[in-house]
Amino acid sequence: MRRPVIVGNWKMNTTLREATTLAAAVRRDLERVDDVEVGICPPFVYLLDVADQVRDTNIRLGAQDCHWEPKGAFTGEVSPAMLKDVGCEYVILGHSERRHLLGEKDDQINKKLRGALAVGLTPILCIGELLEERERGATDAVVRGQLEGSLAGFGADALERMILAYEPVWAIGTGKTATPGQAQEVHAGLRAWLRKRFGAVADGLRIQYGGSVKPDNAADLMRLPDVDGALVGGASLDAKAFAGIVRFKDQSA
Ligand code: 13P
Repeated sequence: MRRPVIVGNWKMNTTLREATTLAAAVRRDLERVDDVEVGICPPFVYLLDVADQVRDTNIRLGAQDCHWEPKGAFTGEVSPAMLKDVGCEYVILGHSERRHLLGEKDDQINKKLRGALAVGLTPILCIGELLEERERGATDAVVRGQLEGSLAGFGADALERMILAYEPVWAIGTGKTATPGQAQEVHAGLRAWLRKRFGAVADGLRIQYGGSVKPDNAADLMRLPDVDGALVGGASLDAKAFAGIVRFKDQSA
């Protein structure tokens, strides 16, 4: 059984005060949830303050990116070891906003995965197709290409320590969610490809769906056999909405 993992990606949002208030509200709602693994990923500059808010709870802390090197002359970058040092357990890597707005490529993501794993962070590797790619029937080729590139040189032991997030780019921040059928088809295809490449470890891998997940569509997505959680953007900035997603089982009851 794969335990669902639901993570809030706050992106470049909140002030310090908003971040600590939001984290405190998330703590109040979710500190003892254990049927779902819960995480929040605030901006780098608020990690320590948010860590204070969720200390000694079931809520885990993550960051939204990292560099691949442990330290050195990389102005403006943050290393995996630094994230570990301030209490992070996850790091989101290869998010579509970094791929498409900042030109991040699979070979960089591959190095970041290596760096994150080396210090014991759990990477959340994001992949997903553009609308134009879906419309010309290239979804499978695109997501598999992203997987092949990002995971080049890795073995089953590495996959075992990651989370995968399928986020169709056309569904991110648009209010357009993939239908359960579309999500399940891609997730099952990804798992089948990973099983062929890495073996049985693929059956234990958790694959999150991301893209306009809200309390009212979470249950339909989470009950799909190959959807094992969610990476939540906009709705994670509202503690009640985020809690509604985490408690998707109550909604389907
Ligand atoms: P939204 O939930 O705002 O669509 O964002 C999804 C996302 O990009 C999470 O990483």
